[in-house]
Amino acid sequence: MKGIINGFSKLSKQQKIQWVAETFGQNPTEMAEHISSWQHADAAQQKVLDGFTENALTNYPLPYSIAPNVMVNGKVYAVPMVIEESSVVAAASSAAKFWLNKGGFHADILGTVKLGQVHFRWLGQPETMQYLFPEIKAALLASADDITANMRNRGGGITDVELLDFTAEEPGYYQIRASFETCDSMGANFINSVLERFGDTLEFFFDTRTDLSDHERDVEVIMCILSNYTPDCVVRAWVECPVGELEDLARHAGLPGPEAVDRICTAVRIARLDPYRATTHNKGIFNGIDAVILATGNDFRAVEASGHTYACRDGQYRSLSKAWVENGIFRFELELPLALGTVGGLTALHPLAKRSLEILGNPSARELMMIVAAVGLAQNFAAVRSLVTTGIQSGHMKMHLTNILNHLGATDEQAAAAQQYFADKTVSFSAVREYLGQQ
Ligand code: HMG
Repeated sequence: MKGIINGFSKLSKQQKIQWVAETFGQNPTEMAEHISSWQHADAAQQKVLDGFTENALTNYPLPYSIAPNVMVNGKVYAVPMVIEESSVVAAASSAAKFWLNKGGFHADILGTVKLGQVHFRWLGQPETMQYLFPEIKAALLASADDITANMRNRGGGITDVELLDFTAEEPGYYQIRASFETCDSMGANFINSVLERFGDTLEFFFDTRTDLSDHERDVEVIMCILSNYTPDCVVRAWVECPVGELEDLARHAGLPGPEAVDRICTAVRIARLDPYRATTHNKGIFNGIDAVILATGNDFRAVEASGHTYACRDGQYRSLSKAWVENGIFRFELELPLALGTVGGLTALHPLAKRSLEILGNPSARELMMIVAAVGLAQNFAAVRSLVTTGIQSGHMKMHLTNILNHLGATDEQAAAAQQYFADKTVSFSAVREYLGQQ
């Protein structure tokens, strides 16, 4: 059947491109050339990129942008962002500039603990397991000494090992939950290596216990893996200022400042009580967060997964941000888990991730957590400010105009004229097409 292939992974890159183009391309030569054309001119750089994944044919370009003026705890950053969506970088930049003369963003770290689990089955009496656990714990910690040595030298390592009993829900199922401090690394490989060592040690511990019955010596390790849910690796970012200083908040909509503030607070409360709204609200936050995570070579799937679990930690999916006025002070706050690294992994390998960290002043993981949270908050603030004042489309479509003009094949002159023409008009695909037709 067309499209099935054995041994694709064993083909050379050129052979893979050829096979894809010949099998699926309407014009195979043109497709093969097009795919190949996105490769880096420098073969050494391309080799590094190809090493990130498997069956790589080429590179998939995304814009690399900067949101300037992001002040966090008094220090100003130009934040690299990688994202394909119009208006996200403009919105983050706009909010950063808005808060610049109002103290900027503030942030603090609530914890940096990461977690891993060994899931196993043991069918002896739960009391016996409780009795044995102190010995098991000591054996586990000792067995990982060689793996944790460097991390301990940096001030990190394993900070706790607990036993959790789930036998009431699943016969014989226990979990070892280990806590880690991984300093400036995201730590996934470190944690997984420790956990797999724990798994082997657990099996050895039971296997060699001559004081246990045959039945009790039988332990089955199901899996050893980090948890991407890191509710104790959390950052909080906020902006605040007297409501009286927010008169310019809704200048486009002509709303008085206090009214705009009230509408923002109401919109955020709606996102706390309604999961449908909360999902879109948090998507707006991750517009900013993912873009910085990608630009710095971090793992946006891990951060998203953890953030969404955190958003429903009380049993209902809610907004990750809060907004309120107290004693005349408006405060807009975001709290979320962020397991990030500034050393190791792609941060050291991806040529632009390294550059991003340099632009950010080579921050520690803790500092990067605060920058990322500030951009998420900036994004959220800009989106909600637009939603409750002008509506999202006017600003978003103004930024999207370039895409529409490119799509319709406008010349540089037509595009420049269209930008002027639409400066005070509503942008839509049909309005732009009509405008170009009239040219
Ligand atoms: P504006 O006030 O018309 O902008 O806002 P301005 O022309 O007055 O410029 C002010 C500043 O905005 C600029 O300062 C820039 O910082 C930034 P300057 O550089 O001049 O010193 N800015 C730009 N930066 C880069 N390129 C540009 C640009 N234009 C302005 N072309 C703006 C325009 C789009 C910022 C505003 O309308 C806005 O913030 N809109 C919100 C857009 C948004 O949130 N987009 C995210 C995608 S929509 C979404 O998916 C999420 C959502 O569903 C989430 C939710 O529901 O909560 C909405």
